[in-house]
Amino acid sequence: MAIVIRRRTILVIIIVCCIGYLLHLPNGGSMEQTNRIRLLTAPMKLCYFISMAAESLGLSDRAVVTRKIIDMAAVFKDTASEDANLQITNTYIENVRVRIARPSNDNSNLPVIIFFHGGAFYMGSIDTHNALTSTLARLANVVVISVNYRLTPKHPFPAGLEDCYTVVKYILDYKDSQKLRIDPTRVAISGDSSGGNFATVITMRLATRPVTQFLPRLQILLYPSLQVFDMMLPSHRQEHYTLVYYDIHHLLSIYLNKTVDKSIYANNHTSVKQKKHYRKFIDWSLIPSKYRIKYQEPANDDHEGDPNLIKETKKALGPEISPLLVNDAQLAKSVPTYVLTVGHDRLRDEGFIYAGRLKRVGVKVVHNHYENTFHGSISLLYGLLSLDIAHEMVADLVRYIKENL
Ligand SMILES: *[C@@H]1O[C@H](CO)[C@@H](O)[C@H](O)[C@H]1NC(C)=O
Ligand SMILES: *[C@@H]1O[C@H](CO)[C@@H](O)[C@H](O)[C@H]1NC(C)=O
Repeated sequence: MAIVIRRRTILVIIIVCCIGYLLHLPNGGSMEQTNRIRLLTAPMKLCYFISMAAESLGLSDRAVVTRKIIDMAAVFKDTASEDANLQITNTYIENVRVRIARPSNDNSNLPVIIFFHGGAFYMGSIDTHNALTSTLARLANVVVISVNYRLTPKHPFPAGLEDCYTVVKYILDYKDSQKLRIDPTRVAISGDSSGGNFATVITMRLATRPVTQFLPRLQILLYPSLQVFDMMLPSHRQEHYTLVYYDIHHLLSIYLNKTVDKSIYANNHTSVKQKKHYRKFIDWSLIPSKYRIKYQEPANDDHEGDPNLIKETKKALGPEISPLLVNDAQLAKSVPTYVLTVGHDRLRDEGFIYAGRLKRVGVKVVHNHYENTFHGSISLLYGLLSLDIAHEMVADLVRYIKENL
């Protein structure tokens, strides 16, 4: 009897600890609506454990498991509310799947936002980001073309990027704009997180080598991933609240289809020579000083690094993966840019550096920073998980689009 009770007690303690752990918001800081965020955090933590367990059992790469779970969850979304007053077309542009959202009551040739969803190159879809893309179409009165590009690990770099480029070229070369009822002279290239990386790379490609009839008018970057040179920026080293658990060395290894280990967090993927060359592009003085109290100066710039890792990751320092690592003359060719950054985000500081460098070379930039929220939050617009801050960020962005596109 005593043993049974003890077992039960232990079981209850374990369950309580698990629930406590799942509902705990580490480093939540001053975020608002934390109960809602907890509702989302708990299943995301479970998702991470399931994917790691599946990987260690040899069933599948963790990236594939995470993506499948998130795709399954996306089925339960309230798409009717998301798509209210919009005409939605699921179609293909040059064999790339896209979803086109346009306001149903406007038949004129509207401006366009071409949108690349985030998800660390291995997850996310036009479904997971439908709330955001549809809301932008409706509120900004534009056509949003959301691109379902190919994902890793099945399709490493540059497959997804090239899918996005294909769609961009098609739209900017569009001869028959009457059919889509769009204005190809008013196109914004946009994306969040890894999708923001694609947007930056593609806009820079077109600025450097214009191959289309028209050029994009704007780029809109939502907490974009811009470089993998300095993994020791303060925002990379701080502990943040995070919605999705991912490891940069893992996502980079499947993006490059190379072996990348954790010593990348100590910048061991670059030689002293590379550090000397690239450091000027990652200027810490553009990071607000309040973020540089604990980590004041670049670290490990005198470390020679790991020759094997340097070889494996060399490609990642190129402008097609790290668009922040270009010189000022190239950067000055960028189109007017909207940069959104958030406080709880390891990509925060590269957003600040990019916006700061663009301003310094004379590119028109609007940089809005939202301190009390986290990476991914702009998508939380509907239902139980909707956040006020997401609506605030969208409202600011819509105002920018209406004034600039
Ligand atoms: C990754 O690289 C290996 C070896 O270089 C190759 O055999 C494999 O096909 C590549 N995987 C993908 C998904 O491209
Ligand atoms: C980085 O590389 C150096 C030299 O190759 C090595 O001594 C050090 O342990 C590495 N650091 C990490 C975190 O792996």
